[in-house]
Amino acid sequence: MNRMVTVEAGLTVLDAIREAGIQFEAICGGKGTCGKCRVIRVSGKVSEEGSVCAKFLTLDEQRKGYCLACLVRVWTDAVFTIPIESRIDTPQILLDVARTIGTIHPSVHKYQVEKNTTGPTAILGPSIRFTGYTGKRPVMTEEQRQVILHANGPLTGVISLDGGTSRLISLEEGDTTGSLFGIALDLGTTTVVGLLIDLITGEVIRRASTLNRQITLGEELVTRIAIGRKEDGRAELRAAALGSINEVIHKLTRDAGIMDSEINDICIGGNTVMSWLFAGRDPTPLEYVDAHIPTDPIILTAKDCGIATGPDVLVYCLPAVSRFVGGDAIGDVLTAGIHKKMEISLLIDLGTNGEIILGNKDWLVSTSCASGPAFEGAGMRSGMRAMRGAIDTVKIGLDGHVTIHVIGDTEPKGICGSGIIDVAAEMARAGILDFSGKFVDTAPGVRQGENGPEFLLVPALKTATGKDIVITSEDMAYLMDSKAAVLAAITVLLQKYRLRLHDIQHVFLAGAFGSFGNIDHLISFGILPEFPSAKFHRIGNGSLAGAYACLLSIDARREATEIAERMGYIDLLVDNDFIEEYWAALRIPGKEELFPSRF
Ligand code: FES
Repeated sequence: MNRMVTVEAGLTVLDAIREAGIQFEAICGGKGTCGKCRVIRVSGKVSEEGSVCAKFLTLDEQRKGYCLACLVRVWTDAVFTIPIESRIDTPQILLDVARTIGTIHPSVHKYQVEKNTTGPTAILGPSIRFTGYTGKRPVMTEEQRQVILHANGPLTGVISLDGGTSRLISLEEGDTTGSLFGIALDLGTTTVVGLLIDLITGEVIRRASTLNRQITLGEELVTRIAIGRKEDGRAELRAAALGSINEVIHKLTRDAGIMDSEINDICIGGNTVMSWLFAGRDPTPLEYVDAHIPTDPIILTAKDCGIATGPDVLVYCLPAVSRFVGGDAIGDVLTAGIHKKMEISLLIDLGTNGEIILGNKDWLVSTSCASGPAFEGAGMRSGMRAMRGAIDTVKIGLDGHVTIHVIGDTEPKGICGSGIIDVAAEMARAGILDFSGKFVDTAPGVRQGENGPEFLLVPALKTATGKDIVITSEDMAYLMDSKAAVLAAITVLLQKYRLRLHDIQHVFLAGAFGSFGNIDHLISFGILPEFPSAKFHRIGNGSLAGAYACLLSIDARREATEIAERMGYIDLLVDNDFIEEYWAALRIPGKEELFPSRF
């Protein structure tokens, strides 16, 4: 579909793309460091920073008109094509949530309104009651009081118990006590996923998702923190996230045939940066190791944050532990239940930032590591998100023959995180990589690329982009770096708590990575150590499942706060052991004592 957009002369093509609202790859946010914002110039006068473009584009691509949208400025009418690899398609999203939440006891309830303006007690003033409500008198505004007193027909009051205060949050005409709706959201760095929930039965009525519009401003958290330091940048990021949240809410209510105003409660799981930006907080403190992170949940009204439901609906964000272990990780813990188990569990949620939590019912400790976006398919030559056209499974025979599976059973466009782990583990097994993750030049399928040896996964003739899908030496160096960071973080955490591999009884894997990754490959490539006594569990989107649990149970909210308050955090940025373990982990699979059966 063609789009036409008018922008000031001298702005970049990326500015124009954002203005047009096109979902587009711009991982570094326009800093010229990711090379993903590729467009093809068809016509028009432009100026570009050629030396930076050249770093990311082959000579052949440059001849064909490829350039980087954030580095090209437009001075006259111009026409560009967005190639398939720069478009963002519907991501593969995990929508499973834990079904067992025990007793349903949401923080909002509905009651019919009773008023007495004529009886003997009315001499002291009209009284207002809520049928069946036995708690403290709910706080209400004078406006709400007047609406009740002047109503001619029946009214239903929605009372919220969140934040320790009973509060009348809305009034609905008629008797609507038979319906009560809430929305659970995972406000992810990349995607926003929502569930419309019947708060009476706990049923998931509808599911919807979209990309977090903040992506076109910058994909990495550090980029977003940098943008959010300035007030106007913060406002832009907040508006982008809200646009995505409101889009998901509209989809959910439209599909269910209800109005946005019928939503009575909202719960959000998100990392600390996402939650702070959503709340309009300055994220600057999150840049510092000693940042103080309050462990209280953030609670706002829909009106305060711009969510398009009834204005007084409360929006609850799961609490955070540290700058890099946020409400999404608390949601993981709630879902996995490691805070209630006698046995020791390890929980791993890998995205751009890796969160690792260790503990049991008596103690909990967490850490995070910069695992980089490789596990989400970014930062690699042929990497892409887990969406239609992404290779998600790879097998390599000893003769170098490659078998792949592509999401959507279509021609491949690139390779996503689980495919990347598969290919790395399979290349190591097939002798295509040596123990340090470097290519063996003489191995089948290895050829000389522009920047050194590379492995040809799918030739151009068989891809949707018309380009070879390859794993380059640079990709492997990047991937080794990411896997070493995760393995080192796990090792340091075990060492600090004097735990042996046998002591870990459960390993929970969260997020897309945990749901689709091949567990054998996670170990054989050396992302996870061997845990001989552990049961492995995949918990899917723990952030969403945590938001779901908190929506349906006020007790789950208390638990979430308790988990955040008692969980310790070790910052590896300032830890010498981590550096040592990181160097040791830069081999496949890693130190002998972590992989006893493989040596
Ligand atoms: Fe253009 Fe990253 S290089 S957005």
